[in-house]
Amino acid sequence: MQQPAVDAAALEDLLRAAVAAPSIHNTQPWRFRLDLAHLTVEVGAAPGRALPLADSDGRAVHLSVGAAVFNLRTAVAHHGWRPVTRLLPEPDRPEVLAAVHLAGAPHAPGGDGNSNRKGNGYGNGRYDGRDLYESIWLRHSSRMPFTEQPVPQPVLDELVRAAESEQADLILPGRGESARLLAITADAERRNNGDPARRAETASWCAPGRHPDPGHGIPPAAMGVMDAGAQLPMRDFTGRLDGPPRPAACFERDPQLLLLSTRQDRPVDWLRAGQAMQKVLLVLTARELVASFLHQALEWHDLRWLLRDPHAGLCHPQVLLRIGYGPVGAVTPRRAPLETVNGAEHPQVGKVDHAGTYGPVLAPAGR
Ligand SMILES: Cc1cc2nc3c(=O)[nH]c(=O)nc-3n(C[C@H](O)[C@H](O)[C@H](O)COP(=O)(O)O)c2cc1C
Repeated sequence: MQQPAVDAAALEDLLRAAVAAPSIHNTQPWRFRLDLAHLTVEVGAAPGRALPLADSDGRAVHLSVGAAVFNLRTAVAHHGWRPVTRLLPEPDRPEVLAAVHLAGAPHAPGGDGNSNRKGNGYGNGRYDGRDLYESIWLRHSSRMPFTEQPVPQPVLDELVRAAESEQADLILPGRGESARLLAITADAERRNNGDPARRAETASWCAPGRHPDPGHGIPPAAMGVMDAGAQLPMRDFTGRLDGPPRPAACFERDPQLLLLSTRQDRPVDWLRAGQAMQKVLLVLTARELVASFLHQALEWHDLRWLLRDPHAGLCHPQVLLRIGYGPVGAVTPRRAPLETVNGAEHPQVGKVDHAGTYGPVLAPAGR
């Protein structure tokens, strides 16, 4: 039987969308395997891209991969297929964290494609009549002060629903609880800065020019500023204790935090949390909001436990975000999408002709 081929430009766009996801320290800890015989993109964790100190259990890798999977799903739907996603699909191949199958016949990108999208709810990439695909390219972490303009309750409600649709809970802490979460985060930031090995690990990935490969790092323009009021513990990615102090400015007085949690704490829950996180980020981008992460406390077992809402039921904090109206963050680099594909070093891949299809060029990788 003739195997369906995927248009090369579409496939490259799917991968480009996936790698536009946020990742801890911009490590981009994903890799993809194209199973074109089954029209499936497998996503795994890339070796050598873990953070043994900041992420000893690999939770942040799973969150980052989950975010890439959500982008992939969104782009698959945008290009007219129906994404069918399985997490940890093969017990005997635990390195495969997710598989996204391109189901149905594709239609024109961006077309309404209702026949392919029925019954898939928010998971299909459309949200409230808009295509979250556009948000993939507009979302960037913003580490600058936000305005004092409060986020309207209906928008907050939308974000809660977005997380729920991906099997995660989004907690909206009040003012007192936010102050408590920020104090715990500040404690974590102090610990990180006081630990030379962690500082070195962070700087090796993030500090401009420190990573040997282009396509990595957080450029100075994206690093933002520190809070002159010392209320918002923005992360210092430079790893430096000496040298000129980081630029500082006054941040919003009443920050809007979001704590994303799951009911259980297994790798599959981390992958779900990553997808929920990314959906929340794309929805808030569509609402012209910006966000930054405050992940420091989630990297310390005891402090992560303290982030739990004492009044909520059993929950496992996964991601702490600060959202608001403010400047859009600067663009951060990415590895070229093809570099993230298993076997990309194979000479055949170098021959990919963007005018053709990947079908005959990228044969399914052997198992
Ligand atoms: C699990 C996770 C943890 C992160 N932790 C932080 C953090 O503590 N502070 C921060 O400013 N950014 C944090 N980030 C954001 C990354 O640094 C950012 O996604 C990456 O540099 C790429 O930039 P972008 O988000 O603008 O695409 C985190 C991202 C992820 C996925």
